[in-house]
Amino acid sequence: MDIKARIKELETALTSALKNVKDQNDLQKVKSKFLGKKADISKLMQHMKDLPNDEKPRFGQAINEAKQQFHQLIENKKEALKTEAIKEQLKSETIDVTLDAPDFSFGQTHSLSQIIDSIEDLFIGMGYTIKEGPEIESDEMNFEKLNLPKDHPARDMQDSLYIKPDTLLRTHTSPVQVRTMLEMGGKKPVKIICPGKVYRRDDDDATHSHQFMQIEGLVVDKHTTMSDLKGTLLEVARHMFGPDREIRLRPSYFPFTEPSVEVDVTCKNCDGKGCQICKQTGYIEILGAGMVNDKVLKASGYDPRVYQGFAFGIGVERLAMLKYGIEDIRHFYTNDLRFNKQFK
Ligand code: PHE
Repeated sequence: MDIKARIKELETALTSALKNVKDQNDLQKVKSKFLGKKADISKLMQHMKDLPNDEKPRFGQAINEAKQQFHQLIENKKEALKTEAIKEQLKSETIDVTLDAPDFSFGQTHSLSQIIDSIEDLFIGMGYTIKEGPEIESDEMNFEKLNLPKDHPARDMQDSLYIKPDTLLRTHTSPVQVRTMLEMGGKKPVKIICPGKVYRRDDDDATHSHQFMQIEGLVVDKHTTMSDLKGTLLEVARHMFGPDREIRLRPSYFPFTEPSVEVDVTCKNCDGKGCQICKQTGYIEILGAGMVNDKVLKASGYDPRVYQGFAFGIGVERLAMLKYGIEDIRHFYTNDLRFNKQFK
């Protein structure tokens, strides 16, 4: 028998059988057909006994080599099937980036936070530091050190919520200024703004809220003047209401500043000519300010003969209401999404 020719036949049969193999299951069947115990190649061994002794080794070797080769062919097919399967999987899992995305609804920063962020940006740009302090304050920090001793009539300007006889919810963010000046030990210049929540014993209505937000500013240095204050406030007014706004300062009274002023900005609606929004005055009041009272500087360790300062207090809700024409302060806190979403 021509063993080489017989092996060649089997190899051809195997190769064409492998061509039709579609998956690992088919492959297993082909494997047992061509390499199993009952496979033709295995049966060939039975012819060994009929051969002369000197031909036996060559015959055996040819069969073993063929078996190894068949094995290799089957392994190759196995690998090819695997690669094919991965390709198919990748194809079926590709993402069509041209498809419309589902409509996600993103949240956004609250309108008040937007105003605070924007004012913080302005002041950071002018070299200020942001300072925060406790909302539960001592009477001393909230009032006494700000030239508001007990029984001072001006305490009525800020109806307070007391927790204990000497502890209250802060009525303004000015105590943060006191705390900062004390920290500086009466020696170093101060340039800060203090944003935060404040509390007053008010009945809630369209323009009053028992809790609201303030940003107070304080500058203390050796040559601080009223014109520095005015320039700074003009920056704030233009930042919030537009580059061609003007401001005017009206004399006012705060115990912690002397002189004190109330600051008006020209009405954006009528450009200062007078309209319903500014009640025909051409101006809208936006904040209170003044030169830090000598008594306040002294109480916080600064020598008023060397240091002067200016301070201002911005009501954040009031500013937002003016800027966006909001008629009721309660909108900021009731969290009606239709209201909030207008400030995207
Ligand atoms: N603290 C004042 C208030 O809440 C505002 C203010 C601050 C006025 C600084 C002048 C200077 O009423």
